[in-house]
Amino acid sequence: MTDEELLARADAIASRAYAPYSGFNVGCAVLTRDGAVVEGVNVENAAYPLGICAEPTAFGRAIVEGYRPGDFTVAAITASPCGGCRQWLAEMRVERVVFRNGGRLVRMTVAELLPEQFDAGDLG
Ligand code: THU
Repeated sequence: MTDEELLARADAIASRAYAPYSGFNVGCAVLTRDGAVVEGVNVENAAYPLGICAEPTAFGRAIVEGYRPGDFTVAAITASPCGGCRQWLAEMRVERVVFRNGGRLVRMTVAELLPEQFDAGDLG
């Protein structure tokens, strides 16, 4: 599957977002090493800080299905991942991230998105 095809999956699933407060639908499609695609959307809440981004809903689904960190090759997101979601992408050890930002298609590694990251090794 190409990056463009995976991003098309993220675009399509974004219509299922529950984002009545921001009106900003986000979709995330994650490609697993065994060729599956796991999708997520943002899910908002009237208590605003409880809202969940598209990336953790995708990874939460994947974890429930039995996938683990390191099982993911590419994550495609319809928007630039926020700071917290960069931490999620790092935790899940995604190899590459593809997203749209200001009309451009951006491809980056997690190390580029989140340098000097905090991870399990820091918990000593
Ligand atoms: N959002 C995501 O789902 N992922 C990101 O990485 C950026 C932001 C959502 C959160 C909120 O529901 C909406 O976009 C507006 O911030």
